[in-house]
This record gives sequence, C-alpha cells and structure tokens, in this order.
Amino acid sequence: MCYESECCGGSSRYRRFALGFWFGLAILATTAAAVVLVVASARVSRLSVAVDDASLTRFTATATSVAYNLTVALVVRNPNWAMGVTYRSLEASYLFSGKRFDSVTVVQPGYTQAARKTAVFRLTSGSDAAQASLGSAGVQEYKKESAAAGVFDVEVDLSGEVKYKLHRASCRLEAKCPLKLQLATPDASSVVFQKVTCDVLRSSQSGC
Ligand SMILES: *[C@@H]1O[C@H](CO)[C@@H](O)[C@H](O)[C@H]1NC(C)=O
Repeated sequence: MCYESECCGGSSRYRRFALGFWFGLAILATTAAAVVLVVASARVSRLSVAVDDASLTRFTATATSVAYNLTVALVVRNPNWAMGVTYRSLEASYLFSGKRFDSVTVVQPGYTQAARKTAVFRLTSGSDAAQASLGSAGVQEYKKESAAAGVFDVEVDLSGEVKYKLHRASCRLEAKCPLKLQLATPDASSVVFQKVTCDVLRSSQSGC
C-alpha cells in the first residue's frame, strides 16, 4: 500500500515537473522571440548606397556653366531584415570642383522599398548650359582634368528623407559618391566604370 502510493505520488510529481518545465521553456522562447522582434524593429541599419555604373558623354565647363550628358546607375540597399522604408524625397546633386551644376529627382515621394531589398535607380540628365558658379578655380580644374586624359572628378551628392516602418519620425538620408568619369568620345571604345561605394553620412537624429 505504502509503496504503491509513493510510486504514484512520485510519478505525478515527475509529470508536474515536466509540464512546468516545458511551459517555462515555452514562455522563455516566446519572450526571447518578442525581444528579438522589438530590437530588430527599433534598431535601424542605415541604407547603403553605391554607383554601379555611370557614363559621361559630354562635359565642358566655363566659369558660369557646365554642358554635360551623364547617366548614373544608383544602387540603394535596405539592409534591415524586418523593416521596409518609405521615401519622402530623394535628390541627387552633381558637383564639379565643389560646386553644384545640376540636380535630379531620384524617386517620387511615397516610393517604398521592402526589407532586405535592393533598388536600382537609373538617372539620365544633361544640359547645354547648366548654371554653376565655378569661377576661375573651376575653369583651372576643368583644364587640368581635360589635359589628364579627360577623366573628370564629378561628385554625386544624395539628399533626402526616409521613413522606416514602425517609426514615427523620418530620417535624413545624406550620401556622397565621388566619381571618376572618363569622358566617352564617339571614337573611343568602351569605357570601364569601377563601382563606387558611397559614403552615407551618419545621422545625428535619435533612432535614425
Ligand atoms: C546629350 O543629350 C542630348 C539630349 O538629351 C542629345 O541630343 C545629345 O546628342 C547628347 N550629346 C552627347 C554627346 O551624348
């Protein structure tokens, strides 16, 4: 009698322990998953930006203007694994000798890029006389670079505002892409462009 009840008592005690153990483990796992999700959605990884391809088919500069034709393939990657990003605005400015000579709109407001996705924006622009206050320093630089096999230093500066999913505030997006562009003349054969990784500026806004 005594022996049997001890046995039963022991078995039910074990069952209760096992139940408690698995229940506790389930709670722990759920909590861990919730924490990971909260951390993942709270911490923003900055977008990464690169220029995969670019071609310059015309480039002449005076003290006050630039005549040019330029195409740029801009690659923006969203490294966040759980957060889409919506663009409020994104503009690319083109600079020569530190002076802006043109700017183009990269995306329309409201464009959304899903988590872990890479977007390619192909920008084509040109002008017979884009206004730029290059001055004599810019003209000097133009002459120097024209003489140096026609490889021009053109900087692409990105400026915009993006909003990460689940975040209330939007974040400034600023990036600088210094390009070395070989002027493609009709008689020259294919010009190879080396991919450039852009410098994405760290935002001082909290949560960005
Ligand atoms: C520059 O672009 C214009 C039109 O956008 C075109 O008519 C012209 O031929 C182009 N010039 C060169 C050198 O590619």
